[in-house]
Amino acid sequence: MNQTGVRIAGVGHHVPAKVLTNADLERMLDTSDEWITTRTGMKERHIAALDEPTSEIAVGAARKALASAGLEPKDVDCIIVATVTPDYAFPATACIVGAKLGIQGVPAFDMEIACSGFIYGLTVAASMVRTGVFKRILLIGAEELSRLVNYEDRGTAILFGDGAGAVVLEACATDSLLGVELGADGSNPEDLMLPLSGTAGPALTGADIAAKRNTIKMDGREVFRFAVTKMIEATETALDRAGVKPTEVAWVIPHQANKRIIEAAATRLAIPTERVIVNIHRYGNTSAASIPIALSETYAEGKFKDGDVLLFVGFGGGLSWGAVAWRWTTAN
Ligand SMILES: CC(C)(COP(=O)(O)OP(=O)(O)OC[C@H]1O[C@@H](n2cnc3c(N)ncnc32)[C@H](O)[C@@H]1OP(=O)(O)O)[C@@H](O)C(=O)NCCC(=O)NCCS
Repeated sequence: MNQTGVRIAGVGHHVPAKVLTNADLERMLDTSDEWITTRTGMKERHIAALDEPTSEIAVGAARKALASAGLEPKDVDCIIVATVTPDYAFPATACIVGAKLGIQGVPAFDMEIACSGFIYGLTVAASMVRTGVFKRILLIGAEELSRLVNYEDRGTAILFGDGAGAVVLEACATDSLLGVELGADGSNPEDLMLPLSGTAGPALTGADIAAKRNTIKMDGREVFRFAVTKMIEATETALDRAGVKPTEVAWVIPHQANKRIIEAAATRLAIPTERVIVNIHRYGNTSAASIPIALSETYAEGKFKDGDVLLFVGFGGGLSWGAVAWRWTTAN
């Protein structure tokens, strides 16, 4: 098999039309715009309609990423969807996305590693392109966390939103994947989990549903501490492996979970805040979609120059974490 380089040839994102603002949440819960803004940086998030499954918003993002690469769906030879909110437990949402895009026979599968989904997916997809097995992979982070949230729990209801972001990874002569650090520690899954959603524990009952026991459970303070520590460690390791100093990073595109987490990590890494992309005020935490949405928006603003080093960094349920140092390359 040939070894080749890999680049991002196209990016796009799509979010549902409906917006849930902090003012809306004030009417639903014992909370305030002031509390949410100062503790998280969030102002609004998008919420999918009931007839708008994850595959639908994934297709929206995919079409835009393909258009930005000047490609048709048929030009793609693999589809990966990173999600914890698939249309069904099976078949994989990626298979449904392929069908909706009108491409049959193309391999397609989902990846589930919660909010770290795009970082892991980028590493897997880029590695698959580098081996020469695939020429163009459509990687989509698509999530509808609104389906998993208990809107009576103010500790989690304010945090999450729906959306999708996609990239087309393409074989090329030069290599964009400079350095990677991935990690996971499953010894305390209850820090951030969706209980009663799989084969562990008792079968879900009507009483469980009535008591909303099958909604997101989280130890916010514990996850906050973990997130800051792992964002710093993963960034340092990925940059070290890439041979890149923090001062040489043009853009940090972090998982958008909490503005205070992002700022605390950036400060400790001595990366100026103007180089750190934050769009959390408009989307909340969209899990595996947050990084590709931020990437897509920043690309659309024309901010990337050829050769820029981008740093993707995130964390999430597992607990899991990761960082990827990536060179922005337009030449194929
Ligand atoms: C959830 C999070 C915003 C809470 O912020 P915090 O500063 O840690 O707040 P605490 O949990 O310590 O709660 C402080 C107080 O605010 C209250 N509170 C919690 N949510 C509230 C809300 N939406 N509105 C008003 N008050 C709220 C708490 O009940 C608590 O009150 P008390 O002191 O009377 O007990 C923060 O912990 C966080 O972002 N953690 C990481 C979560 C995350 O990123 N998850 C996804 C990972 S991919």
